[in-house]
Amino acid sequence: MNYELTDESRLWAEEVYEKIRVKIKAECARVGSAIPYIAEDGVYREDKAQTDICWWTNGFWPGILWQMYHAQGDEEFRSAAQGVEEKLDQAFHLYTGLHHDVGFMWLHSAVANYRLTGNQRSKARGLHAANLLAGRYNPRGRFIRSWNEDRAGWVIVDSMMNIPLLYWAGQETGDPRYEYLAMDHGDTVMNLTVRGDGSCNHIIILDPATGELLKTPGGQGYGPGSSWSRGQAWGIYGFALSYRHTGKKDYLDTAKQVASYFLAQTDRTGHVAVVDFRAPKEPVYWDSTAGVCAACGMLEIAAHVPKPEQDFYVESALNILKATDERFCDWDPNKDSIVQMGTASYESSSDRHVPIIYGDYFFIEAVLRLLGKDFLIW
Ligand code: GLY
Repeated sequence: MNYELTDESRLWAEEVYEKIRVKIKAECARVGSAIPYIAEDGVYREDKAQTDICWWTNGFWPGILWQMYHAQGDEEFRSAAQGVEEKLDQAFHLYTGLHHDVGFMWLHSAVANYRLTGNQRSKARGLHAANLLAGRYNPRGRFIRSWNEDRAGWVIVDSMMNIPLLYWAGQETGDPRYEYLAMDHGDTVMNLTVRGDGSCNHIIILDPATGELLKTPGGQGYGPGSSWSRGQAWGIYGFALSYRHTGKKDYLDTAKQVASYFLAQTDRTGHVAVVDFRAPKEPVYWDSTAGVCAACGMLEIAAHVPKPEQDFYVESALNILKATDERFCDWDPNKDSIVQMGTASYESSSDRHVPIIYGDYFFIEAVLRLLGKDFLIW
């Protein structure tokens, strides 16, 4: 979609795009087909292909490369992304480390490749991943279980970002079962994670035999009943994407409800998000990744609403992105990672206030979207 931007915002987006272009070109030369996660002192030291091939974020680097390949046609990006996709086959072989995050892993690698190049091997990988996700469906509780081991009835709001893999598989194969599963799951998550005020539970635990809601424990946020900002962001973008794929208006309304809550919180902190909106005031922990993911969600909502409502969501996304640029972005092409100050979870001090690969992915996707240079990866 073509977003209507003011001259000032267009100029900002074009200048940032130029900086992204320079930075990703330099990073690609250094990183190639390794799989980065968190940069330490401006260097991607760890290669997840060596340390944890099943790690849930392993699709974001190829996702960045495919977005930039689509925008620029640079063959180096295509070749590096293809290299990561081949390495991810090892995760299929291992299998036991995989869970509901197969959408994040293969939508941004194999499915992106297939969408842009028609590669048939990539299509097969994407369908294989979709079937792994479908295999996690619980027909009694009407949900796709999250994580593994003894958590048969656990569901997390993040999962809404993975079910676009099922919508894609349904469109690709003409088999409506994928959409039935995705919508059953979407309805369950919508009904049980989203609270009346638009905040979300991160985790819901259901009785796997009946689907009855048993517990809402704390997750990656501050604690039970709190409001983990990245979870809210997954809700905004995830429900908006489910609306895109199904046309079910409840999903769009839910995305808007969570977005209103998110914006009310970030308006108080200069348009960037703390890790948990219901944590004590001190210490202040930021999570830049929540903001940039929410911004993509706002742009997705904007694509489905008429003016002047559309302008509100575009402006809200721009406020977040500009504040993130001003406060948290590192544009030095000699250093790896763009968006600093991401936080994986409230309690974990080792990955607090660090640049995390998905922060860069969502920031780049949002800027490309504003300029009409993105392609739909979800
Ligand atoms: N989906 C896991 C996370 O957001 O950290």
